[in-house]
Amino acid sequence: MTKIALLGAAGQIGTPLSLLCKSSDLFNEIALYDVVHAPGIATDLNHIDTRAKVSGHLAEDGGLQKALKGADFVVVTAGIARKPGMTRDDLFKTNASIIRDLFTEVAKTCPQAICCIVTNPVNSTVPVAAEALRQGDAYDATRLFGVTTLDVVRASTFIAHALGGGADPKSFKVPVIGGHSGATILPLYSQAVPEISIDSEKLAQVIHRVQFGGDEIVESKKGAGSATTCMAYAGFRFIKALLQAKSGTPGVEEAYVYLPGIQGGKEIAARLGVDYFAVKVELGSNGATKVFDIGSLSDSEEKLLEVALKDLKANIQAGHAFMGV
Ligand code: LMR
Repeated sequence: MTKIALLGAAGQIGTPLSLLCKSSDLFNEIALYDVVHAPGIATDLNHIDTRAKVSGHLAEDGGLQKALKGADFVVVTAGIARKPGMTRDDLFKTNASIIRDLFTEVAKTCPQAICCIVTNPVNSTVPVAAEALRQGDAYDATRLFGVTTLDVVRASTFIAHALGGGADPKSFKVPVIGGHSGATILPLYSQAVPEISIDSEKLAQVIHRVQFGGDEIVESKKGAGSATTCMAYAGFRFIKALLQAKSGTPGVEEAYVYLPGIQGGKEIAARLGVDYFAVKVELGSNGATKVFDIGSLSDSEEKLLEVALKDLKANIQAGHAFMGV
């Protein structure tokens, strides 16, 4: 029996994500929670001929507790999205409170669940969630992930676009480290498989596009929000990897995690001077089993890493300050 709770299910990421979960046939139970519309979306999804039973819950009558009860996985997309001219950090005030409140309840109702955060600014909301879980005596770094898979998806897609020739984006594996916001997103094309041959000016443009890919969508949507379908796609890819690992097939994905709480992470945290960082993570039956070193970087990547770390420290500090730590 596998149950997933999707918090923020009526939002523009939550709804396509709930469809991907229902159509996958990987779950027995899918609980949708939101402040509006969740029961109606559940009724709609229940007409699909896969075995998952979908329930919809609103805030009234203990809806959040009902959605979380018995959940093996919790995925949070709740919160507001960017409009043109906004950075992810501009969302912090509103979304940090939402994350704090949701994770205070996760700590009480399903403390063993594996949790994924999509809600921006991920660089700060993950430290907020970690602290809320810690305050509820339910924190384990191996079970809390900031979802950065969209950066990995973009790194493959945009290099394929730049190289042209009809290359399959999926054939490029590019590690992406750092965080999930602007300059904190650092695609390591020097470690790409297969090796990539592109002139340095073009490569710089591709790196910039990966770092600011979110802005491209925000501007194109002209005030109607930010990434939704590609984020749902990427989020589901990460959820699928977690599920496969849970059922005995370990995998490796990038995610934004608390390094000192995961095997292999203390050394990386000490070297970089940050505790939260997106790295390659090995996924096992109960969450993260270890993190992988970032490997050797090119000179230009080293410079970008310095900038990323500076921004990241401020983002993490914002999350801690909000939680009074
Ligand atoms: C993205 O990367 O597209 C998302 O984080 C949404 C955003 O605000 O950019």
